[in-house]
Amino acid sequence: MIKLFDPHVTEEEVEAARKVILSKNWASGSGDGLVKEFEQKFNQYIGSDEAVAVNSGTAALHLSMMISNVQGKNVFVPSLSFVTTVHSLSYTGAKPIFVDIKEDTLCIDPDDLEQKIQNHGGIIALPVHFGGMPCDLVKIKKICKNHALLLIDDAAHVCGGEINGTKIGKIADLTCFSFHPVKNLAMPTGGAITINNKDAFILSNKLKSLRWCGIDNRRGIFYDVTSISPNYYMNEISASIGLVQLKKLDLLNKKRREIAKRYAREIKLETKMKYEENCVYHLYWIVTNNREEFIRFLNENEIEVGTHYRPIHNMTVYNDYKNIELPVTNYVSNKVVTLPIHPNLTDSEITHIIDTINKFVS
Ligand SMILES: Cc1ncc(COP(=O)(O)O)c(C=O)c1O
Repeated sequence: MIKLFDPHVTEEEVEAARKVILSKNWASGSGDGLVKEFEQKFNQYIGSDEAVAVNSGTAALHLSMMISNVQGKNVFVPSLSFVTTVHSLSYTGAKPIFVDIKEDTLCIDPDDLEQKIQNHGGIIALPVHFGGMPCDLVKIKKICKNHALLLIDDAAHVCGGEINGTKIGKIADLTCFSFHPVKNLAMPTGGAITINNKDAFILSNKLKSLRWCGIDNRRGIFYDVTSISPNYYMNEISASIGLVQLKKLDLLNKKRREIAKRYAREIKLETKMKYEENCVYHLYWIVTNNREEFIRFLNENEIEVGTHYRPIHNMTVYNDYKNIELPVTNYVSNKVVTLPIHPNLTDSEITHIIDTINKFVS
């Protein structure tokens, strides 16, 4: 079976993790050691003011909401995403206002965002760069500025992506990354928040306290606790692997783009992800009318595929939102299929995927 996701692993990751395991310094809530080194190198890579490592993309989103005092406030968010994009609001008492997406990118539609801000008011926009395709962050940032909204970016899919030569992670006030094993930069578990804000240093110190149960003002073995906060610090094994992955991130993203270029050119389906130099292709999606049959045919031909995502507003736990109008989201989500696009794919596997799809279509 050709896998849908497959992290790129070499002896370098194995050796880095082995060293940490043998050192027995596996974790420290204070984030000294390799976690600090990863934070510094990731911050440098993105060009952000500050970076804070945490133990998942979900943690990054949750802490970003915690630090933004969102209780009882509206946050504008797409529904076609992983569920914790919206759970991060529910954890903190914020209310999601679902914004529709654009048919050509599956990213948040800035016009619908503007309309909904005017209709409802709110304090934060939380866009997602679907599949690694940068959303229109410049326009969204302008809208946020005009309406005095904070821009918090869910960049779980877009690590290494850029807009006009600027790395995503340097544009929004806070940007949340996931280093889940299937992501472009993979760790066993991990995430980060990058900060671009005049108060970046203060915010990063606050986030470092929040990521470790609110522990603060440490002096040697003495410390205080200044907030009720979860245990979200990154461990050293993840950081050791992340440091290796960061060095080759651009190269791995280039490989993803090369595969996308072939898919965009050779797959004979009308509606599919377009090719863009700035995209880092965490996912590659196509839209098909007979999804079940399509999936069955690909599986029979040893190709694993996904259906990213069932919209969050259709999940049982968000039942209150099930009847809201999101025409593009609802239309696409019943037809979308995601294809393997990881850097371990061989040329013959890519050809097999393309040929199988084209055989189904013809
Ligand atoms: C868009 C998006 N946001 C947030 C997350 C959460 O990241 P993590 O799994 O590292 O908690 C994911 C992960 O799948 C994601 O795809």
